[in-house]
Amino acid sequence: MADKRPVKIGAPEDEHQLYQDLAQEFGTPLLVYDESVVEQHYRALCDALPAVRMYYAVKALPQEQVIRTIDSLGGGFDVASGGETDLLLKLKVFGRRTIHTHPVKKDEEIRTALRYGVTTFVIDNVYELEKFVSYRSRVGLILRVSFRSPGAIVDLSRKFGCNLSEVPSIVARAGELGIHIKGLSFHVGSQCADASKHVESIEKCSELMLQLNAENDRLMNVLDIGGGFPADYDRRGVVIDTFCAPIREALGKLPAEWDIIAEPGRYLVAAAVTSITSVVGRSVRDGVNWYYLDDGAYGSYSGQIYDHACYPLQVLKEGPLHRSILAGPTCDSIDVVAEDILLPELTAGDLVIGHEMGAYTAATRTRFNSLPDARFLDLASRRIVD
Ligand SMILES: Cc1ncc(COP(=O)(O)O)c(C=O)c1O
Repeated sequence: MADKRPVKIGAPEDEHQLYQDLAQEFGTPLLVYDESVVEQHYRALCDALPAVRMYYAVKALPQEQVIRTIDSLGGGFDVASGGETDLLLKLKVFGRRTIHTHPVKKDEEIRTALRYGVTTFVIDNVYELEKFVSYRSRVGLILRVSFRSPGAIVDLSRKFGCNLSEVPSIVARAGELGIHIKGLSFHVGSQCADASKHVESIEKCSELMLQLNAENDRLMNVLDIGGGFPADYDRRGVVIDTFCAPIREALGKLPAEWDIIAEPGRYLVAAAVTSITSVVGRSVRDGVNWYYLDDGAYGSYSGQIYDHACYPLQVLKEGPLHRSILAGPTCDSIDVVAEDILLPELTAGDLVIGHEMGAYTAATRTRFNSLPDARFLDLASRRIVD
């Protein structure tokens, strides 16, 4: 089956030289992190949604350097495990700027997060609610609602979130237990095609919050609109302001004193990381050129399997194009990066560049075949930082 992703053939001289220099100095495989891209995307998202406080979803790329960048921009953090909490603790990020959004967690994890200073946790059912009885004076909970999203590449409401109709009974039970549910959240799915599901979810959640606020003395004033802001895998040019315009409009109708928060991951980091791999060897099989790379689907390209992503590729050489396959370094046949693409003739040592490779790439790689991870290079300081 033809692979439809964008493949760029060749590069301007300065770009070509940069990739060659980095590969020569640090070896491959490499993941090159450009902090200025995170800064740009963070500011663009804040400008597009000025009423929203951003909590970076650490799971997207849990690298220290990225945490430092978001921290320096004044962003908050969304964690989903004790490991992510430990990472922030190590970097001395203030716990009050962190929310814990995994709807199901061990008591030990709740205690770790509380010790660290987290006071906001997400739940989506009564069993999880009951885990907070002994911590009720120290927490405010957010109840996650499910909105199935056929338009998203990754539907995050399949596994988590209660139905809207269950919210009143869970809130009532929380009242009986003396636990404060301070608001609702949703995650309409990752890599959304447009913001229509965000808008629908904002409208339905806020309507219910207003109704519950009118009926109860406990005030809900937090709405967490999750993530879902897209990366530009197709290279069509994502304009985040345009994507967010309907969300901005929907949020403009909410009570001004409400606290609106979001958990962006992918949009902030995807474009900030570029993969550099080398061709290790080649063969011709059934008339097709196979090139075997030093990184692949068990490594930095793991998102092609877990995250259903298809990263734009680039080769630096130019020349007549032939049907080609790019394969990863492991012994498994599933370890193929791109099938049936047109490439010029490559030889061992030639570089293959992967773009938009910051989100759910290094985060989900494995050590299969005991192959080394791609090294994480900070472009600004030209230092390996993992
Ligand atoms: C609870 C939660 N919040 C935020 C995110 C980040 O979503 P995105 O990368 O689409 O912005 C995820 C992604 O899995 C998630 O599960």
